[in-house]
Amino acid sequence: MDLYVGESQRATNARDRRLLRDRRRGGPGGRRPRRPGGAAAGVFHVGPVAETGPQQWRDMFAVNVIGLLVVTRAALPHLRRGTAPAVVTISSMSGRRVPTAAGGVYSATKHAVHAIGDGLRLELRDERVRVTTIAPGFVRTAILDDWPDGPLRDRYSERMDSVGLDPDTVADAVVHVLGLPAGVAVAEYAGTAVCQ
Ligand SMILES: NC(=O)c1ccc[n+]([C@@H]2O[C@H](COP(=O)([O-])OP(=O)(O)OC[C@H]3O[C@@H](n4cnc5c(N)ncnc54)[C@H](OP(=O)(O)O)[C@@H]3O)[C@@H](O)[C@H]2O)c1
Repeated sequence: MDLYVGESQRATNARDRRLLRDRRRGGPGGRRPRRPGGAAAGVFHVGPVAETGPQQWRDMFAVNVIGLLVVTRAALPHLRRGTAPAVVTISSMSGRRVPTAAGGVYSATKHAVHAIGDGLRLELRDERVRVTTIAPGFVRTAILDDWPDGPLRDRYSERMDSVGLDPDTVADAVVHVLGLPAGVAVAEYAGTAVCQ
């Protein structure tokens, strides 16, 4: 069962896709399927609370938080049928601290993603489902593409270009976590470019 949406879906290269496929099958030649499920869809709006509004806040909570819950709940019956089931969610370094004054609400959604990941880890541990929250810093993706032109977009684009991770690095982190022994639970995997 593959539920990678968004970044990891696009970033996962052919080698990683092969690795994931082999691991889902229990390794090359393996017979029993492994079951990773992942939720990565997200939206990113920034701006001070005084200058943003309910539509942007709702969008972010709807996709980043409720979307994650809906996808994860739908995946659970499938995950339970496999060996070494795992849930990987894509949060952000913004789920660990509030990075800027303009990033408070996005950061609130990602703090929620961390909390949901930890809750799921406890909820599912008796069923041996591993739950990992991935927390990358800036990653060079299309996440700013819908932003209106202006100084805010210029500032974030420049920052993303200068300190953003290659998306393949995030895909590698997912592959790494899924490749660990089935008895190992990595609760959080956080990483940024050294220069961020
Ligand atoms: N880029 C970064 O610097 C960065 C850093 C830390 C964490 N993250 C997180 O990484 C994840 C992936 O983001 P990204 O950087 O890869 O951004 P992206 O290129 O904009 O990808 C976002 C993905 O979310 C999907 N999505 C957005 N709204 C949706 C909706 N209403 N329903 C279903 N899918 C929806 C998009 O689907 P469509 O393509 O169909 O619109 C797209 O596949 C997000 O959770 C983001 O918060 C990103």
